[in-house]
Amino acid sequence: MTNDLETAQYQHLERLQDGYERVLADQGYDGVLIYSGQAYTQYGDDQPVGFVTYGHFMHWIPMPEIEYSWILIRPGHRPLLRFHAPSDFWHLPQTLPNAAWVTAFDIDWSDNTAPPSLPKGHFALLGDIDGDTALSLGGDLNPAPLLLALDELRMYKDDFEIWCLREANRQALVGHQAAAEAFLAGKSELACHLAYLTASQQRESALPYPSIIALNRHAGVLHYQHYAVDSPTMRHSLLVDAGYRHQGYCADISRTTPGPGADERFSALLNAVSVLQQRLIDALRPGLPFSELHQTMHEGLGNLLSEHGIVRGSAEAAVEQGITRVFCPHGLGHSLGIQVHDVGGRVSSDGTPLPAPPSDPALRLTRYLESGMVVTIEPGLYFIPMLLDNLRAQPAGRTVEWNIVDPLISHGGIRIEDNLLITNEGHENLTCPGE
Ligand code: GLY
Ligand code: MN
Ligand code: MN
Repeated sequence: MTNDLETAQYQHLERLQDGYERVLADQGYDGVLIYSGQAYTQYGDDQPVGFVTYGHFMHWIPMPEIEYSWILIRPGHRPLLRFHAPSDFWHLPQTLPNAAWVTAFDIDWSDNTAPPSLPKGHFALLGDIDGDTALSLGGDLNPAPLLLALDELRMYKDDFEIWCLREANRQALVGHQAAAEAFLAGKSELACHLAYLTASQQRESALPYPSIIALNRHAGVLHYQHYAVDSPTMRHSLLVDAGYRHQGYCADISRTTPGPGADERFSALLNAVSVLQQRLIDALRPGLPFSELHQTMHEGLGNLLSEHGIVRGSAEAAVEQGITRVFCPHGLGHSLGIQVHDVGGRVSSDGTPLPAPPSDPALRLTRYLESGMVVTIEPGLYFIPMLLDNLRAQPAGRTVEWNIVDPLISHGGIRIEDNLLITNEGHENLTCPGE
């Protein structure tokens, strides 16, 4: 007897088996061996660095910490998991959960790290496999056309994957609420970070990416990576960009909270970015080129800068002169799944490269949207001294009202980010269900 989730996971594995069989037949392989990867130690030291299981391995097995293990996929055979579980009194050996999906695999428990021997045939080897091992196995190591086709399978999420993404979002939002409360209670970046972890119930190493917990001007550092222990007296803003990984699948959510010392212009801009974000979300539907929506974001930012008196010229001029790109130098969003910046975003379904346009080198998703894709929508507006100084020195800088901009540098910036499923009807907000 299976419940709905177990059924969805079995269907997920069937989808993968069918998809892999089709791709392997197209590309002339008798099978593929996928390696989980393993943690490395720091150079000159015996301490491990962070590790997460290889994405194509996790597509089959929803465990982000599996090391030294292998999956063998062959058409017409059940998938084989060679699972590394040595007797060890230094570490707790890995175990498999008492979950229904485990029954879909043939499992070969192993006390060594060696790969399974391959039957006769033409095999592909995927993952962080060293050259000697690949040579002894005798297959093609990480062939690009195969990886491209398997990345394509990851672009479309099935019911099991969507359930995981929903759950990841639910957990992350609890963390966001706690971090905002800690900020409003006067706490430091580090305390907000710890509040996030505690409320969302995860250890730091399990995060899908290092949380960005940025107070005041740190919010203008796009991937701010520190957690200050001091608590500044003047509290303008908090930007939190933080997620959660559930059974391998990542949430990637950003929220900006004005502090008691926020300039009222900043609060007004925060509302305007929120309205813009909702307008961009409302536009999501199959068939829409994501690059076009990214351009719509810039047009919206142009309007916003003009309406709030930050630029004196028209909204169109602010876009044409590159001013909106100074205030928002990142892309509108990206594909989301087993990786936060998931694979397959800059290539069409037939494998044609779709590079980011020169005006937007940071845009990670350039495809037409299709039902089953999950993307982030994350417009931002930042006051980044390095970029502002450059603009100030150019002719376009003369149209900027610096008396408004300069006091906002202390507030850093704004980012609001939700995770959206593209559906046949349009979209579903996985972060804010029902919106
Ligand atoms: N958390 C990184 C990003 O939003 O893309
Ligand atoms: Mn993102
Ligand atoms: Mn993010």
